[in-house]
Amino acid sequence: MLQTPYYIIYEEKLIRNLTLLKKVEKEADVKIIMAFKANALWKTFPIINKYFSSSTASSLNEMQLSLEFLGNDVHAYCPVYTDKTFPEFLKGCSHITFNSLAQFYHFHPAIIEWNEANPDSKVSAGIRVNPHCSVIETDIYNPCVPGSRFGESREALVDGLPTGLDGIHFHALCESDSHDLAKVLDALKQQYGHLLKQAKWLNMGGGHLMTRKGYDIDFLIALMKNLHAVYPGLKIIMEPGSAFTWQTGDLVTEVLDVVENAGIKTAIIDASFACHMPDCLEMPYKPVIKEALPDIDNPDLRTNDSSFGVPKRYTYRLGGNSCLSGDFVGDWDFSSPLKPGDRLTLCDMNHYTTVKTNMFNGIQHPSIWLKPIEGDPILLRRFSYEDYRSRMD
Ligand SMILES: Cc1ncc(COP(=O)(O)O)c(C=O)c1O
Repeated sequence: MLQTPYYIIYEEKLIRNLTLLKKVEKEADVKIIMAFKANALWKTFPIINKYFSSSTASSLNEMQLSLEFLGNDVHAYCPVYTDKTFPEFLKGCSHITFNSLAQFYHFHPAIIEWNEANPDSKVSAGIRVNPHCSVIETDIYNPCVPGSRFGESREALVDGLPTGLDGIHFHALCESDSHDLAKVLDALKQQYGHLLKQAKWLNMGGGHLMTRKGYDIDFLIALMKNLHAVYPGLKIIMEPGSAFTWQTGDLVTEVLDVVENAGIKTAIIDASFACHMPDCLEMPYKPVIKEALPDIDNPDLRTNDSSFGVPKRYTYRLGGNSCLSGDFVGDWDFSSPLKPGDRLTLCDMNHYTTVKTNMFNGIQHPSIWLKPIEGDPILLRRFSYEDYRSRMD
């Protein structure tokens, strides 16, 4: 048995997602590139690389990781570039998208100079626009909320794309379906249709959760065929992150203690929501636990006992091992009481989770394992005191 806490990534599940994405890429006639923000476990890149080698980076570090471990076709989108970082982006990227025209005009001379000096590795520039179409309910993940800092306004682009801009980028989705994409595309065409006729490429950002059960892939393919028909010659790029690593890994923990206060029983586990599953608090969402009973609509049933033929449910809050009071996300029911030593598997803890962890409180960081299709799990990384120390001065 592996020592808890640990993340485990399943090669088989990863390959299932990659195969599906590859099929979509072909049938929809789009280019799919991987967004690093959802997954940067570079030791799994040899698996990904057999299917996809292009990526989108939102920082120099992400770009570097791609160049070193994934492939050298890197598209960049950063909310802002600086005079210091931009020359590095020019060296490492094939496409660079700007968040504002002001940034584009500032860096345009550098792009011209680069492209003249490097005719074999020219950089294509794009501008992010904001379709102002909100299909996401959680504001923290909605780039189209009024006042959003993302994307140039329609007013600034009424006269078309300035010379030097080849592409248009939008990102307006989050864990969305293709029907949401259709709504955003309608809004985009209404506001920026004149640019689509002019542009060489359209990057439709991320948030396309094609690997989620129930995602309407046929509708996506039809939508893309229609887009190609209306705008022939427009190359379409999608940069999902979550879809690559959706449901490909879990976090396995152990109950260390059970405490009770005001009738609430909390099982304290050897991991933390704040440190090791931060999206649970940020989104917020309550993860599925493999060993728990399925959620019920009527919580009163929890108090029933087996004398009425309803199996008793034992309810516990799960608490993280950090000192943050709010390091918990909800209650789960179990078929028997929890006790120290019980293992609990928090499901779907790869995309955005492994990249967003932190070392608050200095608590033990979960190790990372890869379960290959055949054979025993392989240790990718174990964290130690040196990792904690090296992040500080
Ligand atoms: C510009 C951009 N592209 C791509 C993505 C990836 O989105 P997702 O992981 O939801 O597919 C994001 C996520 O925030 C993003 O901001």
